[in-house]
Amino acid sequence: MSGTDHSDSECLNRFEFVSTRIEQHRCIAESTWRMTCVAPELAKRAVPGQFFMVRIAGQNDPLIGRALALYEMHRDSNGTPMAISVVYTVKGKFTQALSRCVAGDAVEIWGPLGNGFSTHPTEHLILVAGGVGQTPMLSLASAALGKSQYGSPVQPNGYAKRVTLCYGARSQAYLAGVEDFEKVCSQVLIATDDGSRGHHGLVTDLVKDLLNQSTAGCRIACCGPEPMMEAVSQVAQSYGVPCQVSLETPMACGIGICFTCVAKIKQSDGEWDYQRTCIEGPVFESEAIVW
Ligand SMILES: Cc1cc2nc3c(=O)[nH]c(=O)nc-3n(C[C@H](O)[C@H](O)[C@H](O)COP(=O)(O)OP(=O)(O)OC[C@H]3O[C@@H](n4cnc5c(N)ncnc54)[C@H](O)[C@@H]3O)c2cc1C
Ligand code: FES
Repeated sequence: MSGTDHSDSECLNRFEFVSTRIEQHRCIAESTWRMTCVAPELAKRAVPGQFFMVRIAGQNDPLIGRALALYEMHRDSNGTPMAISVVYTVKGKFTQALSRCVAGDAVEIWGPLGNGFSTHPTEHLILVAGGVGQTPMLSLASAALGKSQYGSPVQPNGYAKRVTLCYGARSQAYLAGVEDFEKVCSQVLIATDDGSRGHHGLVTDLVKDLLNQSTAGCRIACCGPEPMMEAVSQVAQSYGVPCQVSLETPMACGIGICFTCVAKIKQSDGEWDYQRTCIEGPVFESEAIVW
């Protein structure tokens, strides 16, 4: 079950539209940037797994925003949620344009959108990230270990005894924010395709190693390229471990209107139906997805 469930009307009532400026913008790995914006309305409400639609103010190409997950929430000296960070990899039109922006440039952000990850009590939460799929995992680790509180009303936190991040990337150069995860997680395991850091091979090898040690009280949360999420979901199923995945289907509106973001989701009667990643997702139980 997802941490928060939004109906269409709840979603439309609950998201905020914020015009703000970039506070900090820095390159943290190959083609990967971290952007921080002051946005107390968003910082107060967002929970791990939710996302924002982001636009560069005054630019019409691309006209529509792009979805970026909550990476980190920042508090001011009084402990009040004040700012959010997102992390993105440069791919196409929007991310290329955003990477040219500097501190002080105006951006428009609406959110928080979608449903967060489960807050079900867990012995060992295994986070599995591929490529830029690590973005929703930092806040999730922090909430699960009770190191930070998220949401309004405040979401349950401190629900995992141990959190391990299994993080796979093409090479060491593409690993982004490892030091952030090392500060928060109980354990960080790395796999690279070329062996330049950590295990030389697939991130699923790391997950299997962990599950071979013990599956007792384990749960998996996963985000990354779809073939990798499908593989992780098969591993989870074969070990009998519950698994949630955060889909990154391309989106146009982000608020449930355009149906560009649909995924095939199994229903209780065994049939499947299309569900919107922006409203019913982006977090789904992996066994419900028709890959
Ligand atoms: C819920 C959600 C959360 C997301 N969080 C993040 C995040 O935290 N960081 C991040 O970098 N990206 C994230 N994304 C993806 C992001 O929204 C953009 O799709 C991506 O950055 C590409 O945008 P662009 O305009 O640069 O590329 P475009 O010009 O739109 O496309 C460039 C190329 O990338 C392909 N492409 C576009 N969108 C996707 C996609 N979603 N997955 C795979 N290929 C795609 C296109 O087919 C094209 O080949 C998220 C997506 C969703 C739905
Ligand atoms: S992006 Fe428009 S309905 Fe989901």
